[in-house]
Amino acid sequence: MSRTPTVGGNWKMNLDRDASVALARDVCSRLGDAPGVEVAVFVPFPYLLGVGRVIADSGSAVRLGAQDLSDQDNGAFTGEVSASMLIDCAVKTVLAGHSERRHVVGETDQLVGAKTRKALDSGLDVILCVGETIEQRRAGQTDAVNERQVRAGLEGVSPGDMARVTIAYEPVWAIGTGMTATPADAQDAHAKIRALLGSMYSSVLGEETRIQYGGSMKPGNAVELMAQPDIDGGLIGGASLKGEDFQAIVEAAR
Ligand code: PGA
Repeated sequence: MSRTPTVGGNWKMNLDRDASVALARDVCSRLGDAPGVEVAVFVPFPYLLGVGRVIADSGSAVRLGAQDLSDQDNGAFTGEVSASMLIDCAVKTVLAGHSERRHVVGETDQLVGAKTRKALDSGLDVILCVGETIEQRRAGQTDAVNERQVRAGLEGVSPGDMARVTIAYEPVWAIGTGMTATPADAQDAHAKIRALLGSMYSSVLGEETRIQYGGSMKPGNAVELMAQPDIDGGLIGGASLKGEDFQAIVEAAR
């Protein structure tokens, strides 16, 4: 089964208007139509339109992504951003349940599931992020946490919609810390998540669903991580803010 690798640049709450446009230009000119790899950038809300314009003007295949969305359609939800607003800004794909949303903002598994369904029902692709904290890893709960988050995140998601879902396994302790899961540990978690998808849906669907690794992935470790049979790309934070490093990671995925 060959899965097209997918690499996302999660810009988080970084950059300003000029810098986001400059980075988008740099990424688009480096990657062009990026054959063989699906590439997306997850841009702060205020810069979506500007970055979207750069992508459209460049003719690049880089996909415009948002870092979060509301589980509601519209109404009195101060500060929230709906799926239809994102689509209006040419967004194609969105993160759901990033660890910083779960652990800093306090999003529950149920809310993440509701966001995932809302995004899919609205026509967006979704990257559902899961992963354990260091305490959970030390307590031997890694697989149980991943299973709980995958099951809740995909609650009510039909097999037909799964073609638009990517799972990002991102151990919380590896995000932004410079500590990376060993390729063997990451592979083990990915294989278990794939088997879980197989049991929840079908073995074919388990084989077809892409599972990215995230957590301090950089040019120096990307090749080894992506060489693992069940690692289908990466979700990149810090290293996605430098065009050269992001390009190197995309090359590693190819
Ligand atoms: P990092 O972030 O690459 O800076 O560790 C990854 C992520 O949060 O998606």
